[in-house]
Amino acid sequence: MNSVVAVAHPNIALIKYWGKRDEVLHLPMTTSLSLTLREFPTTTRVTQRPDLTADHVTFAGARAPEAFAARVSRFLDLVRELSGDPRHAVVDTVNTVPTGAGLASSAAGFAALALAAGTAYGLDLDRRALSRLARRGSGSASRSVFGGFAVWWRGEDVGDAGDLSSFAEPIDAPLLDPALVVALVDTREKTVPSREAMRRTMATSPFYPPWVAESARDLDRMRKALHEGDLATVGDIAEANALGMHATMLGARPAVRYFAPGTYRVLDRVLELRASGIGAWATMDAGPNVKVLCDSRDSAAVAAAVAEVVGGAARTVVTTAGPGAVVSDDGNR
Ligand code: PMV
Repeated sequence: MNSVVAVAHPNIALIKYWGKRDEVLHLPMTTSLSLTLREFPTTTRVTQRPDLTADHVTFAGARAPEAFAARVSRFLDLVRELSGDPRHAVVDTVNTVPTGAGLASSAAGFAALALAAGTAYGLDLDRRALSRLARRGSGSASRSVFGGFAVWWRGEDVGDAGDLSSFAEPIDAPLLDPALVVALVDTREKTVPSREAMRRTMATSPFYPPWVAESARDLDRMRKALHEGDLATVGDIAEANALGMHATMLGARPAVRYFAPGTYRVLDRVLELRASGIGAWATMDAGPNVKVLCDSRDSAAVAAAVAEVVGGAARTVVTTAGPGAVVSDDGNR
């Protein structure tokens, strides 16, 4: 029985992916750049089962919700197509991300699934091809294939040329030791799913094209700052890029607004931290929670300051840079 276990971690974008130029291949409008985290691994086992007539998907040991199972099975269809191996599989996923933390469990989930399924079905993928495959599950998963900082290139054109040229790769930043403090403002399910929010923004927001143009400049400047170990510049760019992304959403018709009252309190606190001489910069995804970038040495002070405005230490999570996706040996018996 062919059974493979893979582990991957979530990532947080410092230059955001917002908008697709191809919804089937998940080809983005912009190149994005992220940090993969050490915390909250997703572990996925894929076991080929010639006796099954459909895939069987479990989540945390129980039968997975319908929508989740369908998405996993669609992804396996792609793996079956690429490998020419028609067998169905049992997929077991255990996810350790706190629910609703805005830590994009789909990134870790599809990076782990792509590696486990790709290996079980004998696809023999190099890291670039694995990143392209993970991208087909969820765009941001392309980045969780790699540890530390990673850039996901938008690539050129559409169709095969787009598919081949849109992948992630790691970025060296040996001088940096970053942390991200996650401030849990509101852990309820988001009101507008990111796929719908992206679509509406692209279709209706007059602020979207200028954000796309600015994002290319942000990328060049951030790569240079990473290389030089200049966390202050990385942070300034990340904060501006994320707030700019939310500005594009506010300009959509009807507007998409993920800010909650607590979001503003954390953003204010980040400004106060900077004014007091502590390097801290905010980023936000498709939800009200705020992730605060800082040096690892400052993460306890930043977490304590943020905890005061979100209702206690239980609502903050400190995360640091972590590894890329790996096949787990002890799981492969
Ligand atoms: O998780 P997705 O594929 O729906 O994309 C969400 C994208 C952001 O988290 C908002 C930004 C990013 O680059 O991760």
